[in-house]
Amino acid sequence: MLNIAVFGSGRGSNFQSILTAINEGTIPGAHVRCVISNNSGAGILEIARTHGLPAYHLSWKGFPSEEEFVNRLLAVLRSHDTNLIVLAGYMKLLHPRIIGAYRNCIINIHPALLPRFGGKGMYGVHVHEAVIASGTPVSGATVHIVDEVYDRGAILLQKTVTVFPGDTPATLAARVLDIEHEIYPEVIRRIARGEISAVNIPAQAALS
Ligand code: GRF
Repeated sequence: MLNIAVFGSGRGSNFQSILTAINEGTIPGAHVRCVISNNSGAGILEIARTHGLPAYHLSWKGFPSEEEFVNRLLAVLRSHDTNLIVLAGYMKLLHPRIIGAYRNCIINIHPALLPRFGGKGMYGVHVHEAVIASGTPVSGATVHIVDEVYDRGAILLQKTVTVFPGDTPATLAARVLDIEHEIYPEVIRRIARGEISAVNIPAQAALS
């Protein structure tokens, strides 16, 4: 069984696509157990609440030290028996203790074809601006494992879209977002089926 914790900072459309796939029964064995955001006004928290899911606003600003913030995050994750962390527009780098505790059990989606157009500063509109400026005729989306370095972990699935001559960052972002909503649920479906060996869900959790 997959017990998923979703992290996000913004509107939550990828989270919604995952939730829809789960609710339609197309990802057997997967459950979203909680949603965590660093941003109290994030749409992703609102979506979680609408669906009756635990929604946590957790920001380091609310804690006396980084250590206590990370302790709290880990406690929340453990309280939901989390065995897969899904980053869906989460704008913060995860602390190494969290990455260490969930090694090869954290995935992210990036709105371009990694390894190009990734790394620090490559988020949101900046990604699509860089793609258009490069003149490449193809962009896309990438789902990858999260490790200590931005956008570096093993690539699990990519899908391409055409970049048209008249594209603006906004039109390209919309085309990419459509395929994000296809490939993120698809990767989670494959993980739930045990088809992605790079993602290593702990055996104890698989039995629960
Ligand atoms: C997506 O474009 C995703 O690729 C990136 O952040 C954005 C999140 O959008 N990591 P949403 O909150 O899922 O709508």
